[in-house]
Amino acid sequence: MRSRAAFKLEELDDKFRLFRPGFSVVDLGGAPGGWAQVAASRVNSNGCVPGAPKGRVISVDLKEMEPIDGVEFLQLDLRSEQAASRILQLSHGCVDAVISDMAEPATGHTKTDHLRIMALCEAAAQLSCDLLNGDGGFVAKVLAGGTEHRLLAELRSRFRSVRHAKPKASRSESSEKYVVALGYFG
Ligand SMILES: C[S@@+](CC[C@H](N)C(=O)[O-])C[C@H]1O[C@@H](n2cnc3c(N)ncnc32)[C@H](O)[C@@H]1O
Repeated sequence: MRSRAAFKLEELDDKFRLFRPGFSVVDLGGAPGGWAQVAASRVNSNGCVPGAPKGRVISVDLKEMEPIDGVEFLQLDLRSEQAASRILQLSHGCVDAVISDMAEPATGHTKTDHLRIMALCEAAAQLSCDLLNGDGGFVAKVLAGGTEHRLLAELRSRFRSVRHAKPKASRSESSEKYVVALGYFG
């Protein structure tokens, strides 16, 4: 696997069943590619299970990413003006799961880091509304302090269930956790 982060996504998928063969996934903050590798094998976009439906994985990151079998890559800043339209164009707005592990390098100033990651999470949540099929799922990294009330309320008005999860593979001293929203109804 390209990153330790891959094990966190495996755990989240084992628990919440985010992926099925044939699903379409948008992976935000995908580089260096650990989550993309997990998603590609679980939705079978890499054809590793012959005969099973073949899914699709689109990874997006500011940084370059080495090619991965079964993964399409877009290098762009999610907060840029053209980001949503480029992702929509490639995915046809027909996506079963939006997963975001986006994070900027930590400044060491807790409040600043929290605000920055929440801004990325909000941008991902907003985009997910344009992309997701009915019953789709959304996962995004947040920091302790959790998901802010406004974002939680927004997610709860659009998804059947919204929870926080801390995978075992996430270091216990790290304040990161994930918001997991399932059953998109728009
Ligand atoms: C923790 S890493 C992701 C690790 C990845 N999920 C994996 O499994 O290999 C966070 C990523 O978020 C990306 N990122 C941060 N801000 C971004 C933005 N505005 N748009 C796109 N990607 C962003 C960073 O470039 C970085 O590669």
